[in-house]
Amino acid sequence: MKTVAFLCFSFLYLRYTLCDCPRDSLEITCEDDVYEDLWNNNINIAFETLRVDFLQEMQNGSLKAERYINFTMQDINYIVTVTKMLKEMSEKEIQPEDIRDFIKARYLSYEKYTAAMLKIFSFKAEPTIEPTEAMKNYLSYYKELMEDPLHFVVGLLPCNRLWVWLAKNLKTPPDNAYYNWKKDNMDGHPEKYKPLLNKHLDTYEEKKKAKEIFHKQMQNEHAFFCSS
Ligand SMILES: *[C@@H]1O[C@H](CO)[C@@H](O)[C@H](O)[C@H]1NC(C)=O
Ligand SMILES: *[C@@H]1O[C@H](CO)[C@@H](O)[C@H](O)[C@H]1NC(C)=O
Repeated sequence: MKTVAFLCFSFLYLRYTLCDCPRDSLEITCEDDVYEDLWNNNINIAFETLRVDFLQEMQNGSLKAERYINFTMQDINYIVTVTKMLKEMSEKEIQPEDIRDFIKARYLSYEKYTAAMLKIFSFKAEPTIEPTEAMKNYLSYYKELMEDPLHFVVGLLPCNRLWVWLAKNLKTPPDNAYYNWKKDNMDGHPEKYKPLLNKHLDTYEEKKKAKEIFHKQMQNEHAFFCSS
């Protein structure tokens, strides 16, 4: 009885989540969800990233403290640099308005986060940190994306979504020295990107470009963890 109820529920749930197809349409034209497609097309990179030794050692607590310090310094350089890019973009007259507002909101949020990080590590001013090759490549691609605000937004998403996913999937126990990395990153909300991206990535060309950007940034994230 329980099983039947469960199966019925699963079936209904699946039907509900899979498709909202118009009944009169022959081809399957599910509601487009570019936001989810971008992630689903790159889920293999997420799993590969979870398997890199840096994260595996973080999970089992064997990671050398010096490696974690280096990683943290590279991450600080990343947030300082991306915040500066967002600042520069938020000062431009971006159209349409919703993309402009989104960039502004991202800037304020990154600025707040960066300030908090610098404070935690007792930096009185922005530090100058020598980037690794992986970080140089990552940041130079961001710089290219600045030419188009929508592309820049797409470029920000992999980091956002991947870190939350990694933090949720790491089985780091609470008494592990690196538990805070999991705890601090698992509650992010990448889905705030969803309405904007699904609205504006509405042509074949834009979707194609977004896929290319998202994939490249997932690779850049993977390379960052790999090199850490
Ligand atoms: C921790 O993980 C690393 C990478 O997978 C592995 O080489 C190492 O043997 C593990 N150490 C312990 C104590 O489980
Ligand atoms: C940390 O970074 C420095 C500078 O790039 C490097 O010389 C050192 O080997 C790194 N330490 C570890 C443990 O990876």
